[in-house]
Order: sequence, then structure tokens, then C-alpha cells
Amino acid sequence: MELRLGVVQNHPKFLKAPGNLKACLELMDKHEADLWVLPELFASGYAFKTKAEAARCAERADGPLASLLKAYAAQRGCAIVAGFPEKAGARLYNSAMLVTAAKTRVYRKTHIFGGEKRFFAPGDTGLWVEDVAGAKVGVMICFDWFFPEAARTLALRGAQVIAHPSNLVLPWAPEGMKIRSLENRVFSATANRVGAERGLRFIGQSQIVSPNGSLLARLGHEETRAAVVAVDAWTAKDKKVHPANDLFADRRPSLYGLAKA
Ligand code: ACM
Repeated sequence: MELRLGVVQNHPKFLKAPGNLKACLELMDKHEADLWVLPELFASGYAFKTKAEAARCAERADGPLASLLKAYAAQRGCAIVAGFPEKAGARLYNSAMLVTAAKTRVYRKTHIFGGEKRFFAPGDTGLWVEDVAGAKVGVMICFDWFFPEAARTLALRGAQVIAHPSNLVLPWAPEGMKIRSLENRVFSATANRVGAERGLRFIGQSQIVSPNGSLLARLGHEETRAAVVAVDAWTAKDKKVHPANDLFADRRPSLYGLAKA
């Protein structure tokens, strides 16, 4: 069964969540998809200065943003992975919710980047995989891509598709994510934003990559648009790169001292 996998590339206005949500839903309205991936912190914007500023637009994983996304998911019969600033007690997390009509699950960014350390706590959910429309989907957020362990953990747990909400500022992820897909033989969908905020420029280039590491879609540096590609997610179960080499069966964990450190 094909999975129609979509990415949304937006240009949010800082701290204007209702308008930013509306703009994304309007981009999504033009397409049919089974799984949408939206950027990291897609409705709030990214470049907070203080924890207090981040806290003002943070919400709980069962808050109003989740309700609005759930309503859209129910109406369109889709799943949505979307980044948001999460309030959990006294802590803030840089999180992404996976929302369907029936369920919500939250992933908290494991490897927080740069100035985020001033206001977000490192994620504590671990890397999980969920069934979505017949596919196994795992989530990681932006800078997590730089740590091969994140994508590898998701793939070892059975992910066929890695949903990757992002706010990329460094130049390497679009090419780097081809390698994450290739070395794990999984699809990846990186949803990034464009524009600038408080001196940070975001690089766009949202993309969908196949288990061969080839681009199935890539958006421009500046455009705001959604793109959808139909993929056979189950093909990601095949880890063979040669008749004699299955990338997972051939692993030698007993010799990977680093992995145990
Ligand atoms: C990033 O993790 N937003 C670069």
C-alpha cells in the first residue's frame, strides 16, 4: 500500500501562531496526503531570547494546537507530525507531536541545538516508532540528524519512514539526510522553514529521500509550498545493498565499543 508522504515548507511570522497554522493548513489543503510533516516549532517561530518568551507560546501536548491539528487530521483522514514548544510542568521541550484522529504521541528533541539550551530541556521521550496508515514512522527533530545514532535507533526499531521536522540554519542537512536514509535504508521527510528571524537565516530545501539516498522531492531555498510523494514504505524493510550484504544483519555490535560508551 502506498503512503502519500508530504512536507510543508513555511515562512512563519515570529510568535504569530494562529496565522502561521492557517498558512500551513492552506498549503496542505491543495494536496492529498496520508502523512504530513511540518517544520520544527512551525507555528511559534524559533529564535526565542529567553525561557519566559518561549514559555508564553509553549503549550501542553493536549493543548489547543493539538486539538486543531487533530480536527484537521480527522477531517482529511491524515496523520500530521508537527514541531511545537511543549510545556510540561516547569520544563519546556522542543517537541513534535504525531497526531491522527485517534491518537497523539509526543517526541521531545534529544539533541538540542545552540541557543535552544537556554530554554529547552534535552528530550526524555527516547526515539519511538508508531504505525501510521500501514507504515512504521519514527520522528526526530532537526539537529538530531547530526547524530547518526538517532536515525539508526529509529531504523533498528523498525521505522520505514523518518519524519524530520526542522528549522535548519547550518548548510549540511539536506545532503546529510541522504546518507541517513541510505545507511539505514529508510525514507526520510525533512520539513524545513524559510526566511530569517533575529539574525538566523533558515535554508529551506525541505525534501523527501528514498532508501537509496535519492531525492524524491526537494523544495527551494525561499519558496513556501507543500510537496507530496507516494512511496512504498514497506520497501524500507529490505536492508540488502548486495546479495551478500544486509546492512542490519551484517552489523557487528560486539565490536562497536563506542556504541556502548
Ligand atoms: C536546529 O536544530 N534547529 C538547527
